[in-house]
Amino acid sequence: MGAARKKRVQTISDLQLARRRVGLNFIDLQEQFRRYKTEIMEEVQKVLESAQFIMGPAVAELEKALASHTGVKHAIGCASGTDALVLGLLAHGIKPGDEVIVPDFTFFATAEVVAFLGAVPVFVDVDEETFNIDVRLIERHITKRTKGIIPVSLFGQCADLDEINALAASHSLWVMEDAAQSYGASYKGRKSGSITQIAATSFFPAKPLGCYGDGGAFFTNDDGIARCVRELLNHGQSERYKHSRLGINGRLDTLQAAILVVKLRHFDDEMRAKRRVASVYQEKLKGCVKVPRVRAHNESVWAQFTVRSSKRDSIVGYLKEKNIPTAIHYPIPLHAQEVFSAIRLRDDDFPVSTRVSNEVLSLPMHPFLPDADADLICRAVIEACK
Ligand SMILES: Cc1ncc(COP(=O)(O)O)c(C=O)c1O
Repeated sequence: MGAARKKRVQTISDLQLARRRVGLNFIDLQEQFRRYKTEIMEEVQKVLESAQFIMGPAVAELEKALASHTGVKHAIGCASGTDALVLGLLAHGIKPGDEVIVPDFTFFATAEVVAFLGAVPVFVDVDEETFNIDVRLIERHITKRTKGIIPVSLFGQCADLDEINALAASHSLWVMEDAAQSYGASYKGRKSGSITQIAATSFFPAKPLGCYGDGGAFFTNDDGIARCVRELLNHGQSERYKHSRLGINGRLDTLQAAILVVKLRHFDDEMRAKRRVASVYQEKLKGCVKVPRVRAHNESVWAQFTVRSSKRDSIVGYLKEKNIPTAIHYPIPLHAQEVFSAIRLRDDDFPVSTRVSNEVLSLPMHPFLPDADADLICRAVIEACK
């Protein structure tokens, strides 16, 4: 161990790291706040002075800006991405015993909302290159009880939405894109959130468009569904104190909306900067780990830069020694989660999600990551692979 440490002190990444005064961040929300502080404080102050904390004007202002940015008729602020998904299921009247198809490799919430409402999440393995649901495997999971499909546009890249829409239409199913990680991504020139009948996104702080707490949005071009979701997220009220259905308190906080109004102004510049970081990673790491592939018709917003390696655990350990933060998205596929053990699913039926969950590793990714730091991270990964 002592000898190994001595050898490592002489690596180029150690020398580069020694020159840095501050540590590297996985996502740099502090730098982002420093840059937009004046604008954010101005908008927050307006809310505080107006005292319109619930459904204040900033919510409508944000919804208008989101709809225009996404190219969709209705963008509806919600309390979280999870609530936005729940609202989509409620709007479609999902009930116990119904089945909903979801990818096996995603954040837990995608399936949680289905099971929480008493319906059955039906897991489908994912594509080796994109980590998104494997369209070729969906049809064999459709039964008489299937009501809809929730494709997730994971790590910032849209799933194969045209193919999924066509398949769903041929079986009279609805499609809700889980766009929690793909706000702003493009698919064949259209924006994530605008391609399926309904879609849900998250403004969790670390997301491509993040607020300073919990938040989310629901998207649709359908006027009837939009009206229904607006009622559902406000206790099922059609008018004040007139409750036409059972709903939830799923409203977006006005302070969060005000913060998002500012962040949205800078969003496209941030995405350009992230794409530059991604191209540095892709170029420098391609010989040593499996770098993510973005389909030709997709533009990713790089919610995560997730590589694959059979040496994943030793790379994580090596980077940790150098104070380079990493994350594992996700270590356990959904079929293997304890809460779903009653469904009795086997790893063998999900070979790709089982394999990738053992190999994935996400690297620091944010718009303020200097080229020199991206270079340093690459050097450390390359050293770890040797
Ligand atoms: C794919 C996916 N779906 C749903 C969610 C839930 O979003 P939220 O944390 O805003 O409830 C997340 C966020 O973590 C996510 O990554």
